[in-house]
Amino acid sequence: MHLKIALLGGDGIGPEVLAQSIKCLKAIEETFGHQFTYTEAAIGGIAISNNDDPLPKETLKLCQASDAILFGAIGALEYDNDPKAAVRPEQGLLKLRKELGLYTNIRPVKVFPSLIKNSLLPKRNISGVDLVIYRELTGGIYYGEKTLNEKGTVASDLCQYTETEISRIAHRAFKAAKKRKQKLTLVDKANVLETSRLWRKVVTEISTSYPEVTLECLFIDNAVVQMMMNPLRFDVILTDNMFGDILTDLGSVLIGSIGLLPSASIGNDNAMFEPFHGSYPQAQGKNIANPVASIFSTVLMLQHFGLHEEANAVASAIQKSFVKGVTTTDILGSNKYGTDYVGDYIADNIVDADENPSLNDENIGLGRSTII
Ligand code: IPM
Ligand code: MG
Repeated sequence: MHLKIALLGGDGIGPEVLAQSIKCLKAIEETFGHQFTYTEAAIGGIAISNNDDPLPKETLKLCQASDAILFGAIGALEYDNDPKAAVRPEQGLLKLRKELGLYTNIRPVKVFPSLIKNSLLPKRNISGVDLVIYRELTGGIYYGEKTLNEKGTVASDLCQYTETEISRIAHRAFKAAKKRKQKLTLVDKANVLETSRLWRKVVTEISTSYPEVTLECLFIDNAVVQMMMNPLRFDVILTDNMFGDILTDLGSVLIGSIGLLPSASIGNDNAMFEPFHGSYPQAQGKNIANPVASIFSTVLMLQHFGLHEEANAVASAIQKSFVKGVTTTDILGSNKYGTDYVGDYIADNIVDADENPSLNDENIGLGRSTII
């Protein structure tokens, strides 16, 4: 298969972790006879420094013309500490999501047996956790009108959703649930918010077209407690942009490190794959960042294009790195390998896949049904 891949390394550790993903994709090309082309472009803080624009036109054009986008990370301390900054790196990512119509953000959270000790939560709570969060990504409070009065004393952010914005992601989430454990949890705040009541109405109506899927509705405040106390109750979680941002970071507490979690953002014509984590500027250039979230994002990319054997080859190589303890410092009991070393190890194990199937007992694959 030929694939045109846009590489947006972004800020902080983004380019370092993305470089490890490229090593793995090159190993896939070599092993399975595919041809991927890679083109880099600027986004975020680096693009602001170059020409005051967090999403330069050339970057957007490249992304529109690519089959897939691999994203590193975004955000820089100088902007976080300056509430008055007129332009922010994050605006580049938000605009890209909107321009490309990437309305479905899919964030799988799967607890790996060999890393269970890394979680702060008791083993009995998290063993076997395998859930996926469908987060609406191009609407809601992130994109509503923002105001600040002249004195700088009153501010507002409008949260707005249309029926269409809710139903298109709801259908995708129900389809995923149908192929998985047939349970869908809608997370909202319908006891307070009008937008949440609209979500409930639309999602409940749609549920009648998916009779095999059980729908439950949870308030966000209850959902965060359930995620920690009883995550095994979840299969597919569907939620809006803001609640999804919060809930998905909690997934990292379940599996013990945010450096492990991948995501896919899927529109009708474009698809982007990126780690959950931020730019972690304190680690930039130190060769300590965990590349696994980025490499896992390539697993989601390969699945998206129907390359399941290839996706499993990457997932198995990651699994081997866990089992052998070839992990970065955020993983407890790790031998403190560097970013590069872990990336090389995983890439080498794609080319030289282990013949011994016993390694597969963890069933690390993220599952065919993750992406539709
Ligand atoms: C995420 C991030 C982004 C978001 C930021 C960087 C704008 O936290 O992808 O979860 O809030 O969507
Ligand atoms: Mg977030």
